[in-house]
Amino acid sequence: MKSVFSVPVKPVIQPPPMVEEVLDDDERAELKARIKRLMKAQDAVLVAHYYTSADLQDLAEETGGCVSDSLEMARFGHAHPAKTLIVAGVKFMGETAKILNPEKRVIMPDLAAECSLDLACPADEFAAFCDAHPDRVSVVYANTSAAVKARADWVVTSGIAAKIVKYLHQQGHKLLWAPDRHLGDYVQRVTGADMILWQGSCVVHEAFKAEALKKLHAEHPHAAVLVHPESPEAVIALADVVGSTTQLIEAVRTLPNPEFIVATDNGIFHKMHEVAPGRTLLEAPTAGIGATCQSCAHCPWMAMNGLRKLAAVLEHGGNEIHIEASIRARAAVSIQRMLDFAAAEKAGKIQLGD
Ligand code: 13P
Ligand code: SF4
Repeated sequence: MKSVFSVPVKPVIQPPPMVEEVLDDDERAELKARIKRLMKAQDAVLVAHYYTSADLQDLAEETGGCVSDSLEMARFGHAHPAKTLIVAGVKFMGETAKILNPEKRVIMPDLAAECSLDLACPADEFAAFCDAHPDRVSVVYANTSAAVKARADWVVTSGIAAKIVKYLHQQGHKLLWAPDRHLGDYVQRVTGADMILWQGSCVVHEAFKAEALKKLHAEHPHAAVLVHPESPEAVIALADVVGSTTQLIEAVRTLPNPEFIVATDNGIFHKMHEVAPGRTLLEAPTAGIGATCQSCAHCPWMAMNGLRKLAAVLEHGGNEIHIEASIRARAAVSIQRMLDFAAAEKAGKIQLGD
């Protein structure tokens, strides 16, 4: 059931210009060798998101770190014994690592790597939203600041959002959801939960266009359409698979289709090509530069991460994540609820039914 309350659509966040690191083979090899030495000396492990550069993803795997979606990034960093966690991704991912590992040094290649969802949900406005609906359980997407997580009852990632909302709905709770209106709307449709939605959006996924996608699919009728749930409803409606980045990669690995049309950040193609060599991967249309596309299938904040910046941070220090202790402690509760739920669900201790 959709709620009758209306929340104003948030102003569109203006993304920064896209600046991607370009390296030749010699510089890449020199930087990687230098970073590996520094990581060893500093007992550091690299956790990278699928949207970061191929160089960072490769380096994470070569050094015993991980490349994953935001849920697994949180789990991996928490479980790993290294004293320093390097998070290649956006700021909320670094903050989540610090919240779960206060005793560790958590650093990022660039602390200015934000997220339009996080930026569209200031903590004071979110607190007022919660105060206006005290009868509702608040569920926030991981793409939020530590202060917003500290005010929320639950944190979820795209990989587990529908399961947690379904569980809360079955327990009889009405919900507040923030900040992604498209993901919230999708979760509401598949669970039937009573939800009031914050009206933020992702500048990358909001740009996918349903009509152009239909046309592309007609030209490639054997392709499976894979869609991240931060995309608009009309795009999700055309999907064969809707899921987190890990779930979409799993679809490419396991489905028999020769071709895939992918509606998420194109950084994911690096891992998709690796797990399914020989398959044709096509970018879902965003209407291109000059139309309404603000960030054409690549996140400008994710692109701020690179080998040069990582080497500089390890050499000269800085870019460490710090979170005020009381905010950290409260945010840890709502994140830990998600991790405990994920573990219990995996162990078969939570039955969600149909
Ligand atoms: P995942 O958790 O699916 O990796 O998504 C994170 C994200 O920021 C997608 O835009
Ligand atoms: Fe945020 Fe979208 Fe970038 Fe993901 S792709 S980090 S949701 S702006």
